[in-house]
Amino acid sequence: MTDPVIVVTRKWPAAVEDELRRRFPSVRLNPDDMPLGSAGLRDALHSADVVLPTVTDRLTAELLTPDVRTRFLGNFGVGHNHIDVDAGARAGIVVTNTPGVLTDTTADTAMTLLLMIARRAGEGEREVRSGAWTGWRPTHMMGADVTGKTLGILGMGRIGSAVARRAHFGFGMPVVFYDAAGPVGHHGVPAARQLDTIEDVLETADFVSLHMPGGQANGHLINAKQLARMKPTAFLVNTARGDVVDQRALEEALRDGIIAGAALDVYEDEPTVPVGLRELDNVVLLPHLGSATLETRTAMGMLVLDNLSAFLDGRRPPCQVV
Ligand code: DGY
Repeated sequence: MTDPVIVVTRKWPAAVEDELRRRFPSVRLNPDDMPLGSAGLRDALHSADVVLPTVTDRLTAELLTPDVRTRFLGNFGVGHNHIDVDAGARAGIVVTNTPGVLTDTTADTAMTLLLMIARRAGEGEREVRSGAWTGWRPTHMMGADVTGKTLGILGMGRIGSAVARRAHFGFGMPVVFYDAAGPVGHHGVPAARQLDTIEDVLETADFVSLHMPGGQANGHLINAKQLARMKPTAFLVNTARGDVVDQRALEEALRDGIIAGAALDVYEDEPTVPVGLRELDNVVLLPHLGSATLETRTAMGMLVLDNLSAFLDGRRPPCQVV
């Protein structure tokens, strides 16, 4: 394909946009960073050979029809539950993503959340900022220790195992895990124990960290029944996808003391975060920052370009999803 028409749906890190402009002078960037919305995406799919979307672009079966012009969707991000990849495949569109380059950064975010909720860091920061702090006292804002507590990982893939390594080697945490793929090895934590069911992990762990893909297969996997399996002293950490957790059930569990706390980076209907959750003190809320470092976001963009170059050269892209 010579001189393809390329649309980038959101603003990207400067180094990647510079590289895109250098290679494809007519690329359509989005300097104002306004989401295209359904109509804008439809327009892009019908006018461009290549669309480079991200998690805020819902590419549904209604949009990914066989009559679109687009032949390549190079997603900026590893999760692709916002793209109906089956519809894409039926329409003859190649879809790629960006695994690997964001593993450590996202695992760091999971550990940040785990430590924040255990040590009530969000609450403490709000107290200082509001001027309500009255000084040190022996019973002030006591949290929970992390060292030696058991970490439960649901989804022992790249990111799940990176969290396990950090928790085990950095904080002496025993690790138990469940993976839907069956026996998956210990991923660098020889002492990690794979358990047979999600329930086994929920009942055993002091901290449960979610690392499975979003989308229909895992929708509301963590619901009221599952939350009730957790210890009342346990914490839930979610850096995966919001739809994996029944948010309303989680809110109730946090309010009723079914679990001790939760720390979330992702939500069911981003960027909406229910007021009920925002009002609770035993929950830490981040704005989907999992992979948000300059280095990692730049590497993600460069990997999209590698995928695109392979596609345009007639090779199989290194991270082809379908
Ligand atoms: C990812 O890479 O999946 C991030 O959550 C952004 O989509």
